[in-house]
Amino acid sequence: MISALSTPLMSALDQTSEWEAFIKAGQSASVHPNDLRLFDAAGLALDFTGQVTSPLLIKSAEALLSARHFNLYRDKLLSGQSINNTEERAAWHTMLRAPAPVEAVAAERQRMNEFIRKADSERRWRNIVHIGIGGSDWGVRLTVGAFGYAGMWRQVRFAASIDGHAIEGALAGLNPHDTLIVLASKSFTTAETLQNGRRAIEWQRNAGVEDPYENLMVVTACPDLAKAWGARDSQIFRLWDWVGGRFSLWSSVGLTTALAVGSDVVAGMHAGAAAMDMHFASAPFEKNAPIQMALAGIVNRNALGYASLNIAPYDFRLANLVPYLQQLEMESLGKSVDLDGDPVHVATGPAVWGMPGTDAQHTFFQWLHQSSDGAPVDFIVCQEAGHHWPEHHRSLLANCLAQREALLQGKSYEEALKECLASGLPQEKAEWLAKHRVHPGGRPSNLIVLPKLTPYTLGALLALYEHKVFVQGVVWGINPFDQWGVEYGKVLAQGITEELSGAKPKDAAGHDASTAYWVERFGG
Ligand code: F6P
Repeated sequence: MISALSTPLMSALDQTSEWEAFIKAGQSASVHPNDLRLFDAAGLALDFTGQVTSPLLIKSAEALLSARHFNLYRDKLLSGQSINNTEERAAWHTMLRAPAPVEAVAAERQRMNEFIRKADSERRWRNIVHIGIGGSDWGVRLTVGAFGYAGMWRQVRFAASIDGHAIEGALAGLNPHDTLIVLASKSFTTAETLQNGRRAIEWQRNAGVEDPYENLMVVTACPDLAKAWGARDSQIFRLWDWVGGRFSLWSSVGLTTALAVGSDVVAGMHAGAAAMDMHFASAPFEKNAPIQMALAGIVNRNALGYASLNIAPYDFRLANLVPYLQQLEMESLGKSVDLDGDPVHVATGPAVWGMPGTDAQHTFFQWLHQSSDGAPVDFIVCQEAGHHWPEHHRSLLANCLAQREALLQGKSYEEALKECLASGLPQEKAEWLAKHRVHPGGRPSNLIVLPKLTPYTLGALLALYEHKVFVQGVVWGINPFDQWGVEYGKVLAQGITEELSGAKPKDAAGHDASTAYWVERFGG
């Protein structure tokens, strides 16, 4: 039992009396729409009134955390001990944003800031093409979108997918002499990133750039691989193997963000995230926002049976928050064996999906309101807007509150009937139509309010979700820091790529009939 080497043995979750008590308490708890449940954490206001609760649930949740050795795991996480047991490494992203980080982190931060200062003072590179995927991409897209949505003096394009249209579109129309390519890959083995990087270098060379590597910066934990690829030492910013790919936003992967919207944005995000780290480390159980949010999510998943979680940022600038959180939540919690490799036996991470409001209201909110399943919703909104049209912001806030209220309160048949009759419908038609207008209500939600969107509040928000996910991983007993499923897909894709290119013979017997057919047909 590998986990036993460094972590206390945990009994199978579903066999513990604490789990049984927690689930029972969750099933018998209810939503109390008139009892406000407000939390303050690192400048964010969280309203959990839309979640079921009861004194018994709170008590059994605390007992469950204690049975799962939560305090010990949290200490391990925050002190950089090896916690990712299948890869035998720490997951120390909190160190990247610590106010007084270890020497190597501080030195790399300083190097990056100096690089940016020089590039900015020389007004060098009007364009940046950021090449990376997953954790080497979403966080940068999110922050550049959040703070550069109304324009930046440098134009930023992204290429992530291996689909050639992505890199073609990213490079189209740019002046190669005035374009910096930022290649971000922790492992420096990701096929998408390396292929897109090659295309970008070719593009520069074909346009007559004498030394295309002059217009390249690499961010990686594997500098030797980057050097073998052509990058020079001075062009490489480092991260470390203890930074999980989906947490690398806090590392020098933020280079593009800093070049696009400023080093102060990166620093502000660090400060907000560090404040949330402090809250997570020290706030008592009943006031600890990530812990309470995690427990509410587990009740929704395991006691109430919700298989998905909807993210509804009521903020156009946070469009990329949804995919960012999808990776964070689903790559982390999409596991069904525990630290010892045994089946978990209970449902784990929900599918995460969403879209910014109010677009989402006209896309899938009907399903949230009246489908047979429904899903818990995280509403995220800023109290103060960044624009100067108060009437827009009033309407946005009103829509956010209204959707939440409808999910929480619902509408009874009697209320619907009254409405139909009041609109002048005859009794029989009103009775029929009223049945279609009933909302079940009682559908769980969180409301997360940022005073306004700043680097600090966005940093705090992302750290809130990171810690929530961690707590859920500890309770479910899974490793939230590996992603073997994704790795398996990568290996299969590599083999099929070689079959399609003719680099290796087609292996019909090694595939199912359908895959073999399409390999034959696509491979010609
Ligand atoms: O999607 C799997 C994954 O390994 C992520 O965890 C990571 O963010 C992404 O691929 C990119 O990896 P890298 O930064 O090593 O290119």
